[in-house]
Amino acid sequence: MVKTHTRVVSVISYINRKEYIQMKILILGGSGFIGRNLVGSLANTEHIVVSLDSVPNTPQDNVTYIQTDIRNTDMNELVSASDLVIDLIAYANPSLYVSDPLNTFNICFTENLKIVELCTKYKKRLIQFSTSEVYGDHGDKSTAWNEHETTFITGPTHEIRWIYSSAKQTLERLIYAYGTQRELKYTIIRPFNFLGHDIDYLPSAQPGCPRVFSHFLDAILNNGTIKLVNGGAQKRAYTYIDDAIECIIKIINKPTACENKIFNIGSPNNETSIANLAELMIETAIANEWISDKTMIESTTGDKFYGKGYADITRRVPCIDSVCNAVDWMPTTTLKDTILYSMKPWFND
Ligand code: UGA
Repeated sequence: MVKTHTRVVSVISYINRKEYIQMKILILGGSGFIGRNLVGSLANTEHIVVSLDSVPNTPQDNVTYIQTDIRNTDMNELVSASDLVIDLIAYANPSLYVSDPLNTFNICFTENLKIVELCTKYKKRLIQFSTSEVYGDHGDKSTAWNEHETTFITGPTHEIRWIYSSAKQTLERLIYAYGTQRELKYTIIRPFNFLGHDIDYLPSAQPGCPRVFSHFLDAILNNGTIKLVNGGAQKRAYTYIDDAIECIIKIINKPTACENKIFNIGSPNNETSIANLAELMIETAIANEWISDKTMIESTTGDKFYGKGYADITRRVPCIDSVCNAVDWMPTTTLKDTILYSMKPWFND
């Protein structure tokens, strides 16, 4: 009897000592940029991880992979068997918002909403990835964007880029309503320009139009020309993927502190103009002797580069006070290191 009691006490103190309680985690969109990095990190924890995506992932021990398209899959069983659902499924690429707005809306709103409803039905915690695009182009350019005070300014309907922002914003509003009316437990994450070497494909390797880093890298690797859309004065704050993943894992492991919260995740100190991003990437390549000649740079327009209906965001910088306070996190990778770490694997095999 005494022995059993001692064992129970020691197990409880072991659980209390651990930073988290083991969970069955279902990751939707586990093969995307954030998904791959998140699954890779969670594979080294005691969590039980299931990664679902329509495209394959590099297999890791301790992870179950399901290759299926959620549009054709009954998700009841998978959601009901999980403790936590992390929904990363989205088109997160401005070129697709302009070229395929219907699928952008279908994936980012209609399909995501079904997952929200299943999490509500089975009383499962949901971590929903939203986007920094929900802020639109924002009225006040002088301050970092915060989750609690925003005017959410987008543009006219014919600027079809905003369909993604509108889809995600409406999804957020429904999640909020399910939280208040149906007791859904959720955390919404708005990523601000995460960057890592595996963010996207190179446009010379496959058809399509990835995000800016891959275009610039392609030009540097292949002696091409960097194209600055509308001169490149627009600003972003780049977040190294390892910093971002550290924050997401803290959110996973701290359900109470993160319950029904909306968090920006980003690195406000890493703000740069897109023109300066191009210069820094070229400087990094020359300093490391990956190239010897400066890559050419030219200006283009949004309509020429993306097609009709493109609109841009002048300055996108997050306020991260909420998430830093809730989970005790701070991004530490500088802009120069973020660029270096993201470029290096492409030049050193
Ligand atoms: C994109 C997505 O739309 C967001 O949802 C996502 O959260 C975000 O990336 C992200 O990675 O977090 P955005 O930063 O506008 O947003 O997308 P990029 O394609 O990376 O473009 C950044 C800027 O570079 C834009 O102003 C674009 O016009 C410009 N650009 C892009 C160039 O000047 N040249 C290029 O070759 C490509």
